[in-house]
Amino acid sequence: MGVTGLPHEKVLVLDFGGQYNQLIARRVRENRVYSELLPYTTPLEQIERAGYKGIILTGGPANVMAKGAPTVDRGLFRLGVPILGICYGAQLMAHLLDGVTGETEVGEYGSTTLSVSTDSALFTGVTPNTSCFMSHAYVIKHLPSGFRITAKSPDCPVAAMENAITRMYAVQFHPEVNHTPEGGRMLRNFLFEVCGCKGDWDMGDLVRETCTALRGQIGESRVLCALSGGVDSAVAATLLYRAIGDQLVCIFVDHGLLRLNEGDEVEQVFRGIFGAGFHRIDASERFLAKLAGVTEPERKRAIIGEEFIRVFEEEAGRLGELDYLVQGTIYSDVIESGLGDAAVIKSHHNVGGLPSNIQFKGIIEPLRSLFKDEVRALGLELGLPESLVRRQPFPGPGLAIRILGEVTREKLDIVARADAVFREEIAVAGYADRENQYFAVLTDSRTVGVMGDERTYAYVVALRAVNTKDIMTAEWMRLPYEVLEAASHRIVNGVRGVNRVVYDITSKPPATIEWE
Ligand code: XMP
Repeated sequence: MGVTGLPHEKVLVLDFGGQYNQLIARRVRENRVYSELLPYTTPLEQIERAGYKGIILTGGPANVMAKGAPTVDRGLFRLGVPILGICYGAQLMAHLLDGVTGETEVGEYGSTTLSVSTDSALFTGVTPNTSCFMSHAYVIKHLPSGFRITAKSPDCPVAAMENAITRMYAVQFHPEVNHTPEGGRMLRNFLFEVCGCKGDWDMGDLVRETCTALRGQIGESRVLCALSGGVDSAVAATLLYRAIGDQLVCIFVDHGLLRLNEGDEVEQVFRGIFGAGFHRIDASERFLAKLAGVTEPERKRAIIGEEFIRVFEEEAGRLGELDYLVQGTIYSDVIESGLGDAAVIKSHHNVGGLPSNIQFKGIIEPLRSLFKDEVRALGLELGLPESLVRRQPFPGPGLAIRILGEVTREKLDIVARADAVFREEIAVAGYADRENQYFAVLTDSRTVGVMGDERTYAYVVALRAVNTKDIMTAEWMRLPYEVLEAASHRIVNGVRGVNRVVYDITSKPPATIEWE
């Protein structure tokens, strides 16, 4: 189990499998109240021990009446901690406190009007007739004793209920989504008016508290970290260094497939931070030798992943006894591993996987509870440069999957130079937003051109620029012709071996972001 920060004031978001649960945890933190998202199976004693200021029960797809439906120990409602039930969480609260829930004749999905009692602490300052987002087929039919109705919608007579004495609140709708325009106000009311939170959580607290917890866990042991130059491993390692200093050893396996000058930049930043604890291994010859003659993209990925682990293990073996391994697992990786399964170690490590030949006492994952933009904020708090923290995603196999066909040193040089030019032009034109991903691809086609009076026969470079919010989908960027023109001009004139530049105008799907 990894170490997480233990801030003084925190709210529990108990997860019943709904699609907006991560968003709820997120909304709480936006109010500077630390939140933890844990599965509904979390033992009651653990919840009690943690001393939460409030608990939010999330939505979920099940019917509380169904056999085997997710539930909690009724003792949760006797802890004396304020609880807010949302959607499934609301029905569960009603059900466990001896109210009645049941199926509706008309389910409600989407935006609907909502009349609220503004004398409820939850709805203080909310417009009496507002709107909300509903998504349910079940409702609360009879209130548990001691409760009163505090909101109604046309098809939902108990859109909200509460027992102000025991500080139990429930809403059938989703306050966390943008379609509930005053939902933010409702959540703030719960956090500050009902739970009495102060909202003073910040990155400085997180750093201090995490460092204390890490020191407690690690003691005098030595810790190993693989740096890729990516944001997550960089922030994880820097945080560890803050906690344990020279007990941390960082290995940067330079596979020679990085962008122009990137290996040197990574070294410069990290040697500055970790000093003698930083080891850069130039393994480019080894990787190129393994990749010789290989053209199939998945084969390239597999070779790079395997070789990475091998080099890493060899180097770690030279460094004496190492007790723990640091992983840059972040919150979305934990969530992707599934409800109730939150302890699974990230299997899709950026470059390959976990070394199997070294025995560790344990894995340390200091970023497990953080969202990507919180990781970036933490990186800045720890003094990492903006250029590293705001970096666009870069695939573990690097330029090898941006060279179609066989990877050679000559081709690596061409694609790295073309890519640097394109990125520079994008930055100058002001498109280097972090939702954008942009790079050059070296195709394995050569075409005829003319330069001066000479015939040329050289490679075609493709430029790719996409805007993506979720990585699953991406729009090709409508870059101004002037930007494309400048990049094309500089590449053809400045990068030997290229005589033609094309621009990729395919979105994802049907294409992927990378060409391989
Ligand atoms: P695709 O090409 O699948 O890419 O649309 C989605 C995102 O994932 C990155 N990517 C990779 N990252 N190892 C990685 O660590 C890989 O093998 C890999 N392939 C694609 C890609 O850059 C984009 O951000």
